[in-house]
Amino acid sequence: MARFTGKTVLISGGARGQGATEARMIIAEGGRVVIGDLLEEQGRALAAELGAACVFLRQDVTLEADWAAAVAAAETLGGGLHGLVNNAGIYVPKPLMETDKALFEKHLAVNQTGCFLGMQAVVPAMARAGGGSIVNISSTAGLRGSPNAIAYSSTKWALRGMTKAAAIDLARLAIRVNSVHPGPIETDMISIWTNEQRSARLDSIPLGRVGTVDDVARAVLFLLSDESVYMTGAELAVDGGVSL
Ligand SMILES: NC(=O)c1ccc[n+]([C@@H]2O[C@H](COP(=O)([O-])OP(=O)(O)OC[C@H]3O[C@@H](n4cnc5c(N)ncnc54)[C@H](O)[C@@H]3O)[C@@H](O)[C@H]2O)c1
Repeated sequence: MARFTGKTVLISGGARGQGATEARMIIAEGGRVVIGDLLEEQGRALAAELGAACVFLRQDVTLEADWAAAVAAAETLGGGLHGLVNNAGIYVPKPLMETDKALFEKHLAVNQTGCFLGMQAVVPAMARAGGGSIVNISSTAGLRGSPNAIAYSSTKWALRGMTKAAAIDLARLAIRVNSVHPGPIETDMISIWTNEQRSARLDSIPLGRVGTVDDVARAVLFLLSDESVYMTGAELAVDGGVSL
């Protein structure tokens, strides 16, 4: 398939994990990708692997200036900006009574404000391109209660609501906005789990396995592409049934 020929997609937090896999798949289908991340060494190595169709820039999603630079880099690649994956996120699990205000606000800044700034930043460029698709990476922690995750959950539930609000606001510009809700996915993010925590999570997954980056990336590419042209404001769980 070559669903992304002539299209450019911006992926925040794409130096590794799910975002890096999405970048590889989009380029394999003829697209161009701008990757933003704090992880400069990994981001540069990925861009070198992917060649001229990929640009990496250091980006902190909490900063408006970094978003402006990322959008400018996407338009410089040529052909306009057609997609955004608001993928950058942090997950520092702590129960309610062990979560201090600084940790709570750090999650808000990266996971929630970062997504808000990203959506705002891409709209003029997507409008110039004639429309586009925004995919906000939430979590099953945005669909149901999640243990030890008061701060993370608050942001992932927020993304679900922000997705629907933005979908209405941006429909007249032919910009679609949808959310993806991964269950446990094998990346660095969950490497902090103890063996006990991991096996407790495994027991709760109807399909009986932790997800892969490919599982999520396939769903994200579907929402970015014209295959989902009549979908906006939708929430897509990619979670082995864990949220059922
Ligand atoms: N792995 C899972 O089990 C899981 C489950 C549900 C949802 N998610 C979500 O999927 C997304 C991708 O996570 P992942 O699993 O690939 O983990 P990951 O930790 O490999 O990727 C997250 C990326 O975000 C980047 N990042 C963090 N703060 C940033 C900032 N301020 N500015 C720019 N980049 C920043 C990190 O450097 C990292 O590259 C996240 O939003 C995460 O919350 C992950």
